[in-house]
Amino acid sequence: MLILVLLVSSAMPSHHKPCKQLVLYMHDILYNGTNAANATSAIVAAPEGYNLTTLAGTNGFGDVVVFNDPITLDNNLHSKPVGHAQGLYAYDSNVTLSVWFGFTFYLNSTEHQGTINFIGADPIPLKTRDISVVGGTGDFFMARGIATIATDAIEGLTYFRIRVVVKLFECW
Ligand SMILES: *[C@@H]1O[C@H](CO)[C@@H](O)[C@H](O)[C@H]1NC(C)=O
Ligand SMILES: *[C@@H]1O[C@H](CO)[C@@H](O)[C@H](O)[C@H]1NC(C)=O
Ligand SMILES: *[C@@H]1O[C@H](CO)[C@@H](O)[C@H](O)[C@H]1NC(C)=O
Ligand SMILES: *[C@@H]1O[C@H](CO)[C@@H](O)[C@H](O)[C@H]1NC(C)=O
Ligand SMILES: *[C@@H]1O[C@H](CO)[C@@H](O)[C@H](O)[C@H]1NC(C)=O
Repeated sequence: MLILVLLVSSAMPSHHKPCKQLVLYMHDILYNGTNAANATSAIVAAPEGYNLTTLAGTNGFGDVVVFNDPITLDNNLHSKPVGHAQGLYAYDSNVTLSVWFGFTFYLNSTEHQGTINFIGADPIPLKTRDISVVGGTGDFFMARGIATIATDAIEGLTYFRIRVVVKLFECW
């Protein structure tokens, strides 16, 4: 019995050292009514009394945004994208700036082909936030781990950039 337990525990991956790490940047340009040419995200639902071109209230509570954001290897919006971050974020607090994130990194470059799926709470004022990597496909088959995200830039109401450090603790 003891031997079995030891065998099982030694087969488990280390929970403290990532088996794979990636640093990527995602760029979000929110549609504001006049920037359709290069917007990458749009408010698709808003609470009663608000519209789809301005965030609701003071913290956007109740707004849902769908996005298809370019992903780059560095912090330059105009660098060649290595894929896209596709999904949504929902503003989920009336007292602080906070969203719930659910999205996929769809990577399509010479280095990486596949998807990584993310879910988690994003309390935006914190310097860094951790969200869950819940799965993946292709080069990221069965991936699981944590992504540490940080707001790398924010320009007005329409542009923000997030630095995403993907740390996988299960790699196949
Ligand atoms: C929308 O965003 C663009 C780009 O940031 C800006 O030039 C424009 O003034 C904004 N329009 C409104 C209505 O805020
Ligand atoms: C959006 O496109 C306009 C021109 O269409 C450009 O002036 C502006 O810099 C772009 N904004 C971003 C954030 O790329
Ligand atoms: C959207 O609502 C904001 C206030 O929340 C207002 O300033 C803006 O003019 C509205 N835009 C449109 C297109 O109605
Ligand atoms: C947000 O909170 C304020 C003050 O507590 C309240 O007046 C307002 O109705 C709330 N808005 C929503 C959408 O819950
Ligand atoms: C992936 O990239 C290749 C080469 O740039 C392109 O031909 C292909 O259409 C892309 N696939 C998707 C699903 O974007």
